[in-house]
Amino acid sequence: MTPEVVRTNAIREKRRRAVVSQQLTVTCSSRSALKGQSPAVLWFTGLSGAGKSTIANLVDVRLLELKKHTYLIDGDNVRCGLNSDLGFSDGDRAENIRRVGEVAKLMADAGLIVIVALISPLTVDRKIVRDMMETCKFLEIFVDTPFEECARRDPKGLYAKAIRGEIKNFTGLDSPYQTPSRPDIHLRTIGASPDELSRQVEQYIQRQGII
Ligand code: ADX
Repeated sequence: MTPEVVRTNAIREKRRRAVVSQQLTVTCSSRSALKGQSPAVLWFTGLSGAGKSTIANLVDVRLLELKKHTYLIDGDNVRCGLNSDLGFSDGDRAENIRRVGEVAKLMADAGLIVIVALISPLTVDRKIVRDMMETCKFLEIFVDTPFEECARRDPKGLYAKAIRGEIKNFTGLDSPYQTPSRPDIHLRTIGASPDELSRQVEQYIQRQGII
């Protein structure tokens, strides 16, 4: 953690201690029982262009077909609104991930199955969001596409720009990506279609009793 992040966390903790949380009558379990499902956060991590959004979107569509209540939070979209004040330094990424984690936690508390697609490059930030979740399951889903393959696919033309030096702090190039060591689900995208990979996720959450 950078000194800036340590300082911010200390200020946040001091403010938090001055607030007493309010007990609410309607609980997460009553909200999720009404929806006939078990709330969960399905957290997709991987390089830009790895296929996170594509697979997450297919899972979302499938869950809707199964009449499940979901919401998909996609990194690129959230950076156009809630997190439009943040860039790609380590500190800004940590804050991006923290805010999305808090929003996902609220949505899960409302009884939803929340799907998140965020690069979330650092182990520490992914652990912080996992530890945040109190009343729901958190599944880390590693969308494993090697850097060279992402650069070859380059769906948004960002790799070409980053390699030319036109984008700084690009994940996997001049900004780190720490590979999850024990993800709940490990999706290897080379040689598998997005459909197959989304079915792997569906089968896993079925076995976990989430759906
Ligand atoms: S995270 O690191 O903070 O988790 P996030 O998932 O929100 O990243 O945003 C990543 C998206 O921003 C990428 O899919 C890509 O479209 C875009 N992007 C723009 N600049 C960068 C960069 N320097 N590194 C990675 N992605 C970038």
